[in-house]
Amino acid sequence: MPDPQRKPHIGGNWKMNLHAGEAAALAEALADRLAGTAGDAVDVTIFPAFPYLAAVASVLCNKGSKIVVGAQDGYFEANGAFTGEVSMSMLKDVGVGCVLVGHSERRHVLGENNELINAKLHAALDAGLDVILAVGEKIEQREAGKTDFVNYGQICAGLAGVTAEQMQRVTIAYEPVWAIGTGKTASPQDAQDAHAAIRGCLSGIFHGQGVNDTTRIQYGGSMKPGNAAELLAQPDIDGGLIGGASLKADDFAGIVDAAK
Ligand code: 13P
Repeated sequence: MPDPQRKPHIGGNWKMNLHAGEAAALAEALADRLAGTAGDAVDVTIFPAFPYLAAVASVLCNKGSKIVVGAQDGYFEANGAFTGEVSMSMLKDVGVGCVLVGHSERRHVLGENNELINAKLHAALDAGLDVILAVGEKIEQREAGKTDFVNYGQICAGLAGVTAEQMQRVTIAYEPVWAIGTGKTASPQDAQDAHAAIRGCLSGIFHGQGVNDTTRIQYGGSMKPGNAAELLAQPDIDGGLIGGASLKADDFAGIVDAAK
């Protein structure tokens, strides 16, 4: 069982999926299905694509839902000549409460490095947003025995300059790259081992400040209703970041139920 001082968090990363009507319908279905659970027994955040953030926030607000709206990315500069980018304060304006930084698709498909990810993380915190920092190894790194080494590097660089107090608004998502969208899930023991090592890394960075005990570390990578309970039962797994299974209300709600 995870430590009860860490409330479980389940995130639904919709990625570049669902157009306006589908996004609103899914938000509405989740608001109904998770009333009485989201924000109470389990913190729940959904991450629609940029154009639909405001509409999804409005659906949730009208329903009185405690599901939080998150953004899949955000830029570190406050405003100016950065064509195509969206600032953290703009996200906040439209009802966003949380920003995802360092997702493996941003690292490995869009070419983001640790320095940029760290700048985004600071900008989000400065704007008053919560942050999920995603880390994880590629298959060749796992096979070379470098899983913890890779995670430590991404965490140390991603959290550079962050205070123990700010860590109250940061969640870590361990998302092994080889498990994302592949149907291959880390075994509960492998995921637990990686999470325990990440907790050890936090202990090293924030020595003696209790951050390792209080920070939520959630697992992502082909989590589904059928495998969620076993993963979420591990002592250092405090939730999940869900891709494919977050696009269907019943599947996502089933995972949230498993986190209760
Ligand atoms: P899948 O659940 O589709 O593997 O995606 C996980 C993920 O990338 C969540 O951010």
